[in-house]
Amino acid sequence: MSYYITTPIYYPNSSPHIGTAYTTIAADAIARLQRMRGQEVHFLTGTDENSQKIIRTADGLGINPLEYVDGIVEKFRGLWQLCDVRYDDFIRTTEERHAAVVQRVFQQLHDQGDIYKAEYEGWYCTPCETFWPEKKIVEGQCPNEWCRHEVEWMKEESYFFRLSKYQERLLAHIEAHPDFIRPVSRRNEMTRFISGGLEDLCVSRTTFQWGIKVPFDPKHVVYVWLDALINYISALGYPDGELFRKFWPADVHLMGKDIVRFHAVIWPIILLALGVPLPRRIYGHGWFVDREGGKISKSRGNVQDAFDLLKRYGSDAIRYFLLREMQSGADGTYSEDDMVTRINVDLANDLGNFVSRALAMTERYRGGIVPAAGAPGAREEEISALAAEVWRGVEMKLLACDPAGALEELWRFVARMNKYVDESAPWTLAKDPAERENLDRVLYTCAEAVRVLGVFCAPFMPGVPERLRPLLGGEARLELWADGQWGLLAPGTRVQKGAPLFPRIDLSQFEAEANTAADTAEPPAERAGALGGQAKEMISLEEFAKIDLRVARVLKAEKVPKTDKLLRLEVDLAGETRVVVSGIAGHYEPEALIGRKVVLVANLQPAKLRGIVSQGMILAAAAGDDLEVLMVNAAEPGAEVR
Ligand code: MSP
Repeated sequence: MSYYITTPIYYPNSSPHIGTAYTTIAADAIARLQRMRGQEVHFLTGTDENSQKIIRTADGLGINPLEYVDGIVEKFRGLWQLCDVRYDDFIRTTEERHAAVVQRVFQQLHDQGDIYKAEYEGWYCTPCETFWPEKKIVEGQCPNEWCRHEVEWMKEESYFFRLSKYQERLLAHIEAHPDFIRPVSRRNEMTRFISGGLEDLCVSRTTFQWGIKVPFDPKHVVYVWLDALINYISALGYPDGELFRKFWPADVHLMGKDIVRFHAVIWPIILLALGVPLPRRIYGHGWFVDREGGKISKSRGNVQDAFDLLKRYGSDAIRYFLLREMQSGADGTYSEDDMVTRINVDLANDLGNFVSRALAMTERYRGGIVPAAGAPGAREEEISALAAEVWRGVEMKLLACDPAGALEELWRFVARMNKYVDESAPWTLAKDPAERENLDRVLYTCAEAVRVLGVFCAPFMPGVPERLRPLLGGEARLELWADGQWGLLAPGTRVQKGAPLFPRIDLSQFEAEANTAADTAEPPAERAGALGGQAKEMISLEEFAKIDLRVARVLKAEKVPKTDKLLRLEVDLAGETRVVVSGIAGHYEPEALIGRKVVLVANLQPAKLRGIVSQGMILAAAAGDDLEVLMVNAAEPGAEVR
C-alpha cells in the first residue's frame, strides 16, 4: 500500500526554528511508522521561494534573492538531517519541475474559464501573503492577530480564480468526508467560513517580477499561494508521472492552524477544477507558544536557535518534547525549562531508568545472559497483553496525527514496567535459590520489554532503537512494526546495561543554588554514622516541625565514581524527582535500593558533593559499624513522616 504525507513548504526568509520544526518532525514520525508497517511511503517537504517577502529580505541585505535563498535552504536541509527527518523528496518552488506544472495548471484553468482577467483593488499583507477585503482591515493593519503588520493598498490588473463557482461542491465534499479537515474544530471553522460565501481570488501580480510567470501573459507572476499549493502534485510529476499515479491523492497534508484556510479552500478548489481527486486529510495542528501565549516566531524574537538546542539536548530528546507537548488540536507551550523537566522525568527517569534497571539486573544475576522466560504468570500475561494494546493505541493515535496521544499511550507501558520491577522485587528473588525460575521469568520479561520499547519508540525517537541495539546483543529485532510483538527476544541473548539512554540534565537553578553551598560538605549519612550515642541539645516541637520528612522511592542508584562511600540516588517524591548523594555505598549495593521507599529530609538546603548537587538527605540508623537505611512499606512517595 502507498502512503503520501506532506509538510507545508517553508518560507526560506529566515532560518527554521522549533515552531517550524514541529510539523516536519510530526510528519517524519508518521512516515516512519508507516514504513515500519510495510507501507510504501512518500514523504515530501520543501521550501516556498517565490514569496514577495524573500525579495524584500534579500533586497534589504543587498544580495541576489536566489543566492540568499540557497543559503537558507541549506539550513533547512541541515536541520532536518540533525533532527533525523527522513524525507523522500525536497521540493523548491524555484525548480523548473515545479514551475512547469504551475504554468500548465494556470493555463488549463484559464482555458476552461476558471481564471479570468480583471482589475484588483484592495489590501495586501506581505508577511501573510494574503489579500484582505476593506471591511476586515483594522487601523491599516493585517487582521491576523499574530501578524498585525501594516497592509498595503494594491490596484493592479490581475487574474482571478473563480472560487465562488466551486463553493457548493466543496461544502458537499466536506460534508461527505468527515475526515477531510481535522481536527473537528478546524473543520467546523472552515465550514462556517466557506458557507459565509467565497469571493473570487486574485491569483497574479504585476508589480514585481520574482516568481513564476503566467505563461500567456508574462508581465504577471502567479500568486505565491496558488504556486505553493501546487507543490504537492508538481513534486509527483503531475499529470502523468509515475509517482503521481502511485501516490496521489495524498493521505495527509500536515500543517499549522494558520494555513488551514488556504489548504481547505484554495487547494481543493484547484483540484476540483482540474478534475483531480482531493487529498484524504488536511490536518491543522496548534502552534508552539511561549509562556505568555505568544506564537514562537522569528518576528516575535522568542525563538531559540534550533541548532543550539539540538547540540545541547540531541535529536531524540527534542523530538520527544515537541511531539509530546502539542496536545491534539491545542497549542503547546515551549520553554527550555519545561523541556528539561520533560527530558528528566519522562526520558531519564521513566524510560531510561527502566532500561538500565532491566539490563543491569540481567548482568548482575545472570552474567548478562537473558534466561528463558518459562511459563508466564498472571502479571506477565497482563504485560504482554498490555504491550499489544498499547501498540495498537500508538498506531491509531499517530495515524490520526496525534503524536502526543500516541506517546501518552506508550508511556502507559513504560509506567507498567517500572511498577512490575517494584512488584516483583528481583533483588529479593535473587537471594533465594528456590526462586530461580521466578527470577528468570522477571528478567526475561524486563529484557523483552526493553526490546519492545525500542520498537515502539522508533517512529518518535529513531535514535532509541539504534542505541539499544548494542545493549541487546546486536541481533535483536527492532526494525519492523511486527517486531513489536511480544516474545521475540531470544533467550541466551547477551545484554549489557551500557551508558544511560538519556542522561539527566541538571536544571540551571539548582546549579545556581549549589554555587552558594560548600563543595566540601560532609556526606549526610556518614554524619549519621558518626553520631554514635551522643545526645544533642533539646529542641522544641516547633523546631522539629521545621524538618520536612517525607517518604521517597528510589528510582535509580549508582556509585559516585572515584569514591568508596558515596551513592548517587534519584528518588521520586510524589512525582518530583530529586538527586540525593548519600554516604551508604559501603553498606548497600545500589541495585538493592532501587524501588525501596526511604525517608528523606526534603527541605534541607542543597549541597554539592563531589560536583553533584544533593537535594536532601536520606535517613539511616547506625547498627554497629553498619548503616541501616530507614525504609517504609505501605506509605506512598510524598507521605509525611511525623
Ligand atoms: N509557505 C507557507 C506554506 C505553504 S504550503 C503550500 C508558510 N510557510 S511558513 O514558513 O510561514 O510556515 C510553515 C509552517 O510552519 C506553517 O504550518 C506554520 O503553522 C508552521 N509554524 C510556524 N511557526 C509555528 C509555531 N510557533 N508552532 C507551530 N507551527 C508553526 O506558511
